[in-house]
Amino acid sequence: MSQLDVAAIRKDFPIFTRTIRDGKKLVYLDSGATSQKPQSVIDAEVDFYSRSNAAAHRGAHQLAEEATEAVEAAREIVANFLGGESDEIVFTKSATESLNLLAYSYTSLITAEDRIVVTEMEHHANLIPWQQLAQRTGATLSWFEVTPEGRLDLSNIDNVITENTKIVSITHQSNVLGTINPLDAIVARAHEVGAVVILDACQSVPHMPINVTELNIDYLAFSGHKAIGPTGVGVLWGRSELLEMLPPFLFGGSMIETVTMTDATWAPAPRKFEAGVPNMAQIVGLGAALNYLSKIGMNNIHLHEIELGSYLLAQLSAIEGLQVVGPVDMQNRGGTISFTFGDIHPHDLGQYLDAQGIAVRTGHHCAWPLTRKLGVAATTRASLYFYNDKDDVDALVSGIIGAKKYFGRE
Ligand SMILES: Cc1ncc(COP(=O)(O)O)c(C=O)c1O
Repeated sequence: MSQLDVAAIRKDFPIFTRTIRDGKKLVYLDSGATSQKPQSVIDAEVDFYSRSNAAAHRGAHQLAEEATEAVEAAREIVANFLGGESDEIVFTKSATESLNLLAYSYTSLITAEDRIVVTEMEHHANLIPWQQLAQRTGATLSWFEVTPEGRLDLSNIDNVITENTKIVSITHQSNVLGTINPLDAIVARAHEVGAVVILDACQSVPHMPINVTELNIDYLAFSGHKAIGPTGVGVLWGRSELLEMLPPFLFGGSMIETVTMTDATWAPAPRKFEAGVPNMAQIVGLGAALNYLSKIGMNNIHLHEIELGSYLLAQLSAIEGLQVVGPVDMQNRGGTISFTFGDIHPHDLGQYLDAQGIAVRTGHHCAWPLTRKLGVAATTRASLYFYNDKDDVDALVSGIIGAKKYFGRE
């Protein structure tokens, strides 16, 4: 049984005190898109602006010192959270920017003979930057296919990750299917051929314990806003020796060592990747968010989501005409659950559920090649988090059953 006191947790999140659609309880099942924020995160941002606001890494006054210390303290929190070192943490504005940073920075290191490997279940943020890198360099883009059950097909792993492969960039947990991908075999094969492994951990860092050293990966990207942190802050973790050799992506203030009228040299990582005044308040808010998650315990969060996910999957399987898209049990799977429901269009279902105060996401979830492969134009997605409980799941299930009647499909 879950160890979490969800009722107490929800009290930390001010948004759950409001009602929705004329007094209905808010049933928020869209944390895969963005998560809600506890008061401690909101306070951390407000405190920063109220007390310490100044440009970090610049200025010789007390406020600038405090701002720098606040940003660097948050870097330390992120490093500890991921099991990495502080100088391996680059702050960006989002996971999308972290992945674009890598794809741009690798431009001069990739040739037309090289291969870049992704999977068919990537979010566009971990697909299009690699498509573009392949187009810029003439490299070949290859991918692991997805089985009808929503798992990666690794049967031809040696033919996908070939001797020419330089980059393997994969999602840890699919934002559509909930599938948690088997990293060991992929990392072993990638390293065997000398390729780096980049993990899109947007849907895993907020939901389960992650240790970059144990995973033996080379880079990892995630977004603060999906991990109860603010919008406008993302993280790129990279092994220090790789960050040292990688050229920067954005140029400007704070990322230089020396500058003349015709040239410049770069500060050591992570600073060479952080041009301009950083998103300080958001970075500080992210530190508060990860502290909050650590206090709850990432393993507790993971177990809670497995329990709630099993409960939801069991109920969905009993609804005639409803088809889960992705694994139908919680084996190597998280609490992001997508489905189709007969011929009721997901947008219509989403609107009906919204009228009951239930927030889900509908569409292709920025993973168009995946939904196309699975033969569905769109799905309805419920994504669970540690502040959801069985009442939320029950509300969703009765909402779906109500929709069947409302749309005359009984
Ligand atoms: C798996 C995955 N990767 C990348 C992203 C992009 O994240 P962001 O929009 O915060 O940059 C998302 C967002 O939905 C995601 O789910």
